[in-house]
Formats: sequence, structure tokens, C-alpha cells
Amino acid sequence: MHGVTERHGIELNRIPNHVAIVMDGNGRWAQRRGLKRTEGHAAGEEALFDTVEGALEIGLPWMTVYAFSTENWRRPLDEVRFLMNFNERLLLTRRDELHGKGVRVRFMGRRGGRVPARVRRRIEETEELTAGNRRLTLTFAFNYGGRAELADGVRRIAEDAAARRIDPAKVDEKMIRRYLYRPDMPDPDLMVRTSGEFRISNYLLWEIAYSELYFTEVLWPDFRREDLFDAVRDFQKRDRRFGTIDER
Ligand code: IPE
Ligand code: IPE
Ligand code: MG
Repeated sequence: MHGVTERHGIELNRIPNHVAIVMDGNGRWAQRRGLKRTEGHAAGEEALFDTVEGALEIGLPWMTVYAFSTENWRRPLDEVRFLMNFNERLLLTRRDELHGKGVRVRFMGRRGGRVPARVRRRIEETEELTAGNRRLTLTFAFNYGGRAELADGVRRIAEDAAARRIDPAKVDEKMIRRYLYRPDMPDPDLMVRTSGEFRISNYLLWEIAYSELYFTEVLWPDFRREDLFDAVRDFQKRDRRFGTIDER
């Protein structure tokens, strides 16, 4: 489509490079319908895949979605178990389709700990299958916590310093980035949170230092590509200054 510069009111030459989403409100969506919370998680699948379609449509190169936080282990055991099985099944049933669309699927988070071995296997298989794709990198933040990520990085920096592989005097922002879970991932330009909550909930703490924040009342299971487009259009109206001043 040569010469197309705008689609859905979005300027295609100014698409954010990376959109991070907190997929929140599944429980409330279900409760409002008299359903079990877990049915809200199930309904979130369609929201996610429609949003991925939207991302592909506008040529968004990076999208990162918060699927399970290190704090979500505090939920009732049956909900935690549901989420583990649900994510495993989602990988199994959807990975070929994602692969066919040129999506590179990746994970960020603590791989060990309480994540069941079979889920870990599925994660690794999916990453391997899609590793060569470049159209869209879809990262699942899974068993992810921003503080856990920083703690894990600091521990490895300390280990490398103790082993004299790095010089403590040379620890700077660039080096810290190399010790994060996904050093090659560009910082999100835009962070979207659904369900009317105005908080970060331990998401990508280092990475969102200069992200534009967008909050919507829409509950995640109702979210569709048009809602992503709304967020991107809003983003395109923002004036990002990164601490400097605009020279006109
Ligand atoms: C987000 O929906 C999904 C996960 C945290 C896994 P919630 O389950 O947090 O839904 P609410 O916030 O209780 O409505
Ligand atoms: C953040 O949502 C985590 C995910 C969306 C996976 P939560 O629902 O867990 O966050 P809080 O508890 O409202 O802060
Ligand atoms: Mg929630």
C-alpha cells in the first residue's frame, strides 16, 4: 500500500515503537455478568488476539502485555492454577497462528520459582519456534515484577563484580540495562492500563521511566483493536520532552 500515511486516523510514520499493556479488569468483567472470575480471564483471550491484529495492522513493532505478576501468586490457589493452565493452553493453541503472522513471541519474568515445568517448556518451545520473526515482537510479562527484575539484575551485577568480571566503578545506566531480563527490548513509548486503575502495579519499573501513560475505563475482556487505536491517537497528540525544552 504505497503512499499510505494514515490509517484509522493514526499517522503511520509516527507509530510508537513499543506499547506496553496492563491487561486488567478480567475479574470485574466476569463478576458483573454473574460469572466466575476465571471466565473473565478466558474472555481476555479474544481481547488480546484482536489487539495483536490491530498492532499488525498499524505496523507496531513491539507490544508487551502483563499476563501474570509476581504478586499474583497471592491469589486463591484455584485462580492461580487456572491462569497457569490457561496460559499454557493459549501457547499450544495459538502459537502456530502467531508464527504464521510473523509474530516473535517472547517472555520476560522469573522462569524458575513456582512456574510449573510444563508451562516453562511451552514457553521455551514457543520462543524457539518464533525466534526468527520480526514483524511484531509480542512479549508476555509472566511471573514478572519490576522490583524482582531489578533485584535479579543487581544480584548478577554483584556476582560479576565479586568475580571481577566487571568494575563496580563502571556501573552506570547502560550497564544496568544489560542486566535486565530483555536488554534488547526498547523502552515502551506508551503504557496502557485498562479497567480504570491508575497505578503501575510493579510493571516495567525501569523501562517506563519516560513512557506516556494512557488509562481507560474499558475492562480488558472488552478491549479491541479500536481501543488500541484510541490510545495510539492520543499518544500522537502528546508532546514528549524527555527533560529538555522544545525549541521552535
Ligand atoms: C487482570 O485481571 C488479569 C490478571 C491479573 C491475571 P484481574 O484478574 O486483575 O481483574 P480484576 O482487576 O480483579 O477485575
Ligand atoms: C496487574 O494487575 C497484573 C496483571 C495485569 C497481570 P493486578 O490486578 O494484579 O494489579 P493490582 O492488584 O490491581 O495492583
Ligand atoms: Mg486486577
